[in-house]
Amino acid sequence: MITTKQKVLITGGGSGIGLALAHKFLAHDNTVIITGRNLAKLKEVKEELPQIHIAQSDVTKAEDVIRLVAKMQETFGGIDVLVNNAGIMNFIDTGNESNDLQKQFDEIEINYNSPIRMLHHFLPQLKKSKSGTLINVSSGLAYVTFSQAPVYSGTKAALHFWTQAIRPQLKPHNIRVVELLPPVVDTKLAQDADLKDDTFKPMPPKELADLFWKGYIKGKEEITPGLSSQLKLMSRLAPKFIFNQLNKQPIPNK
Ligand SMILES: NC(=O)c1ccc[n+]([C@@H]2O[C@H](COP(=O)([O-])OP(=O)(O)OC[C@H]3O[C@@H](n4cnc5c(N)ncnc54)[C@H](OP(=O)(O)O)[C@@H]3O)[C@@H](O)[C@H]2O)c1
Repeated sequence: MITTKQKVLITGGGSGIGLALAHKFLAHDNTVIITGRNLAKLKEVKEELPQIHIAQSDVTKAEDVIRLVAKMQETFGGIDVLVNNAGIMNFIDTGNESNDLQKQFDEIEINYNSPIRMLHHFLPQLKKSKSGTLINVSSGLAYVTFSQAPVYSGTKAALHFWTQAIRPQLKPHNIRVVELLPPVVDTKLAQDADLKDDTFKPMPPKELADLFWKGYIKGKEEITPGLSSQLKLMSRLAPKFIFNQLNKQPIPNK
């Protein structure tokens, strides 16, 4: 398995987990391109890490993705590794009739439809690469659903199943499919969601990236750092117990 001198594209790489993964790939002598909607944020990263490449691109917009594919082809002759990392988490009380329905559909668009869109458009480049790799960042919540973020939980479970389903299909094309299922990680997403209670001890992004790398270079297909490995095990051994543990408070405060 080749883990250096690869061209690695990370969606949502301007902050949090994506940025920590970017640091890791850079430290191992890879070319790293990060994307996001907020150009100012990407430029700030570029100031600190001049060797990184940045591209403003919204994963939900087909025209942005198509433009990005062309840019990667033109500038780098294509990518080797696609990291589908961009994602959001909304806290929703489904029993509230005044919920914003569009906001819920947007969450599905970013978290689930966009990884499918990204792979669809980058497939020719990954096929052409000698070491094509797809890395999907789902969540430990793909194993045990979290009532306070119901749409999020659904998208991550869907992403998990999609990832498993496409793995044997992409194997004949020599594209390796890896899934990173993080536990609660100390990022803006987790801060916005206010997950910092005793049940969820947030892991620093750097520690997550270290654990990811350990699994990645060992050739693991599903990487489950920290609490995520317990969620995986408990979802099989005692699904009701672990569901109840995670959902003592099913309605969000905010
Ligand atoms: N933090 C956790 O506890 C945790 C746990 C499990 C899984 N995860 C997953 O890890 C991934 C990264 O999350 P994070 O915790 O690092 O959160 P984060 O710091 O908020 O990062 C999310 C990134 O996604 C980008 N993004 C959002 N919408 C986008 C869009 N439409 N197009 C392009 N980029 C977009 C954001 O940049 P812009 O706003 O500039 O676009 C941001 O850089 C997500 O898929 C999340 O579900 C996180």
